[in-house]
Amino acid sequence: MEIKVTKVSADRMKPKPTDESKLGFGQLFTDHIFTLKYKTGKGWHDPRIEPYGPIPMDPAAMSLHYGQLIFEGLKAYRGADGSVYLFRPWENIRRMNASAERLCMPALDETFALEALKQLVVLEKDWIPRGLGTSMYIRPTMLATEPALGVRPANEYLYFVIVGPVGAYYPQGFSPTKIWVEEEYVRAVRGGIGFCKAAGNYAASLMASQKAAARGYTQVLWLDAVERKYVEEVGTSNIFFLIGDELVTPPLGGSILPGVTRDSVIQIAKRNGMKVSERPISLDEILEAGARGTLREGFASGTAAIVSPVGQIFCRGKELLINGGKTGPVTEKLYNQILEIQYGISGDPFGWRLKIA
Ligand code: COI
Repeated sequence: MEIKVTKVSADRMKPKPTDESKLGFGQLFTDHIFTLKYKTGKGWHDPRIEPYGPIPMDPAAMSLHYGQLIFEGLKAYRGADGSVYLFRPWENIRRMNASAERLCMPALDETFALEALKQLVVLEKDWIPRGLGTSMYIRPTMLATEPALGVRPANEYLYFVIVGPVGAYYPQGFSPTKIWVEEEYVRAVRGGIGFCKAAGNYAASLMASQKAAARGYTQVLWLDAVERKYVEEVGTSNIFFLIGDELVTPPLGGSILPGVTRDSVIQIAKRNGMKVSERPISLDEILEAGARGTLREGFASGTAAIVSPVGQIFCRGKELLINGGKTGPVTEKLYNQILEIQYGISGDPFGWRLKIA
């Protein structure tokens, strides 16, 4: 399929941000959008890159009513020499298709999806900021557009990609976050759609996030939905704890998002010679390790959050400080190592980088 490109006219181009320290996350979008349509019987068709703007939507579009809406998040990085890199983009496209399968949505052709993404990012490359920790966030999205109100998988879909320059996800940057352990609400249950990047999972998370924010906490630490005993994820990211010499993260059991950064951290840490375990971690184990002094570090991992230290956990009426509330050395090392791969500063021992410009 050939992508029909219509560029925005010079007088309609948006001004690019001049201060990279004020980018924030998900506030700015570039001049173009990639769109692709799907219809049962016809398949994916009509790929376009067009000026960014509102998408026409029938009020009866099925995604608006029954939630067939999935997305991805990945980034384009500006290397020190001006090159542009993507980081493991094929993993995001595969995960998009895994989400699509669970929500009875059509699969994308992975090669074409990557090609489209590259074309859009290359067209918008002047928007990619230069500072370490800044990047261009890429948001591929698929939603049901067929106007109909019967509950069934839709026959028409729109896939689109929007991009925009971003800085740190958390306003405090790489400083340790305060986490609220949520014992009432749950995010997802095994057998449901917790492993998908589905909009509904994020809607389900808002109530607890609001509760945590009102008490001064940055994110929520989710517990399993059945026993409220094992930790699952933190906010929009995966979670790791360093207990003694073991780096532990919950296993992918169907209710947790299989994070690309999670997998990257596991592989880098193993290569560093660390003992890494994907195993159930109960809240009791964390609290006991905290009391014994063996809970050395904690951090969240995600595309948006990168590697984000956890300095404090609030649970069962008590505050638990991790590493005195400071970023630990293992967290810092992993953060630097992942960044160095993403920005083309170090070698690429795992073959994760894709240079596109
Ligand atoms: C990401 O890390 O890419 C995410 O999608 C998290 C979020 C901003 C929803």
